[in-house]
Amino acid sequence: MKIHVINGPNLNRLGKREPELYGKKTLEEIEGELIRMGLELGIQINCFQSNLEGEIVSLLQAAGDKSDGIVLNAAAYTHTSVAIRDAVSCCGVPVVEVHLTNPNGRESFRKDSLLSGVCDGLIAGFGWRSYCLAVLWFGKYHRT
Ligand code: DQA
Repeated sequence: MKIHVINGPNLNRLGKREPELYGKKTLEEIEGELIRMGLELGIQINCFQSNLEGEIVSLLQAAGDKSDGIVLNAAAYTHTSVAIRDAVSCCGVPVVEVHLTNPNGRESFRKDSLLSGVCDGLIAGFGWRSYCLAVLWFGKYHRT
């Protein structure tokens, strides 16, 4: 099984970016944990990050052609991007929306996700372990 993990804007700053909210691990460290976890579950994990909306659309299209599923933290674009929603809708593989924080417990503009309605599931609020739970779902449960 191959899973693509796609991260959106400002997530390349994890570790430095508001660590009290997002935690102290860098994105590279989180990706390392996911790759290790993937080895245990027999999943090949490919990780990508972009600050650009159109590039995330292209990554979703490519991931749909090349992988069995996608773990997506579109960050701020979650709340604004019809283009990313449409790319999720037509990518052809299951997509799990992930957030480090729980957007429902934060500012009101974060309560709306344009993506949740077209994703297979949503995991939020567990810090970097939100990503682990998404990978676990692909590895253990999604075909059961
Ligand atoms: C986030 C939540 C978003 O509202 C925010 O814009 C982010 C990160 C999260 O992982 O908690 O950049 O997606």
